[in-house]
Parts: sequence; C-alpha cells; structure tokens
Amino acid sequence: MNTITSAPFVPLLEQLFADSERTKREFKERMGNLSPEDRAALMANTDPLELYARAKDVHLAVSRETANLLYILARSSGARAIVEFGASFGVSTLHLAAALRDLGGGRLISSEFEPSKVAHARENLSCAGLLDLVDLRVGDALHTFARDLPSQIDLLFLDGAKPLYLPVLSLTEPYLRAGALVIADNADGSPDYLRHIHNSRKYLSTRFNDLELAIKLGETT
Ligand SMILES: C[S@@+](CC[C@H](N)C(=O)[O-])C[C@H]1O[C@@H](n2cnc3c(N)ncnc32)[C@H](O)[C@@H]1O
Repeated sequence: MNTITSAPFVPLLEQLFADSERTKREFKERMGNLSPEDRAALMANTDPLELYARAKDVHLAVSRETANLLYILARSSGARAIVEFGASFGVSTLHLAAALRDLGGGRLISSEFEPSKVAHARENLSCAGLLDLVDLRVGDALHTFARDLPSQIDLLFLDGAKPLYLPVLSLTEPYLRAGALVIADNADGSPDYLRHIHNSRKYLSTRFNDLELAIKLGETT
C-alpha cells in the first residue's frame, strides 16, 4: 500500500502545497510593507509564540522534498511511535501518519499551539483517512509533551519554534530508543540545539539541505 501516491492524499496535498505557496506570498507582502529595520526589530523583540500567532493563517509547510523524505524515513525505519513538534495545517503530519498507515498502524503525537491550525490539520487528516493514527495536542509542546509520551519513540520531527528545539529534545530524549531518528527542519535558527546534537556522544548527525538528521546512539547502534 502507498498512501501518498493514491487518492484522496494526492489531490489534498496538491491543494495544501498551493495554499502554502499563496499564504507565504501574502505573508511576505505583509512583511515587505515594513522597513528592514522594523522587520528586524519585530523579529528580535517579539516572543516567538506571538510571532506564530500573527502567522496563524500561514501554512509554513515543509517542502515537497522534505515531506516525501519524512515518509520514506518513517516507513523504511519501520516507525511505530512518532512525535512531531509543530503541525501547522498538517503537511508533515500527513506524511508521517501515511507511513504509519502503510506499515500497518502506530501512533503519531503532534503538538500545535495555534487552535485554528489544529482544526485545519484535523480536517486534513480526516479527509486523508488518517486521523485515527494521530494524537494532535493543542498548546505549547513544552506542556503537551510533559505527559503521556510513548515509552519508546522511533522518530522525532522538530518543526516548531526554533529556540525550543533543545528543550523539546530534552523532554522527549528519555523515550527515544537507540537507533531513533531525530530530524530537525531549519535548525540553523537553533544554535544551542546544533551544539548539543554535534557535541553529545548520544547522537550521530549530518546536514542534508535544510534538515539536520541525527540518529540516537545506544548499546545496539
Ligand atoms: C514551520 S510550522 C510547522 C509546519 C508543519 N510541520 C508542516 O509541514 O506543515 C511551525 C508551527 O509550529 C507551531 N509552534 C511554534 N511553537 C510551538 C510550541 N511551543 N508548541 C506547539 N506548537 C508550536 C507554530 O504555530 C507553527 O504552526
């Protein structure tokens, strides 16, 4: 079975990627109306969660290449328990859940702090017939991941507020199995995370385009 190459997934994703491009253009136009100084001041002085709240209509979705790679990595590694930080409208969530479906089932826990985005993500997952695999938690991942995580996590995908990559990794780290994949999008915005993943003997990590791809080392890896 190949969920991501079949209906209803294919037309749904065409629509979502088109919406993602459109909302990115509109957001850039809005930001373009600010002077470079005002834009820099806004980014530096605004709480990241407030910035995301202002961008609640913007998909900020992963690229098609990253989405497909997430599916391939989850499926080829036989993942059963996946945790995702930052669902937005659900593009990455859909690909990770599709891998679980094609592997015969599993559990994907995702967190998104913007309630309207959660509603859209749920609708999209439902449309793709994947909602039953996803525990989509509304709120700050630092709270929503503080309870009820799987005893073994096979794959962690980080795509929320960059300053929180390291705190979210710390929360989930005790549950990451040896050999688990830790995938971080646009991690250059998170230098403390990169330092940790590069310097800790617990991980082996490499850069692939916008992704920092790591494997958790352990007794068997
Ligand atoms: C880059 S977007 C995620 C895109 C998504 N992975 C996709 O492929 O469509 C980042 C999302 O993380 C959410 N977010 C940021 N900080 C968060 C936090 N502390 N807890 C939960 N969600 C957060 C934002 O609201 C935003 O929707």
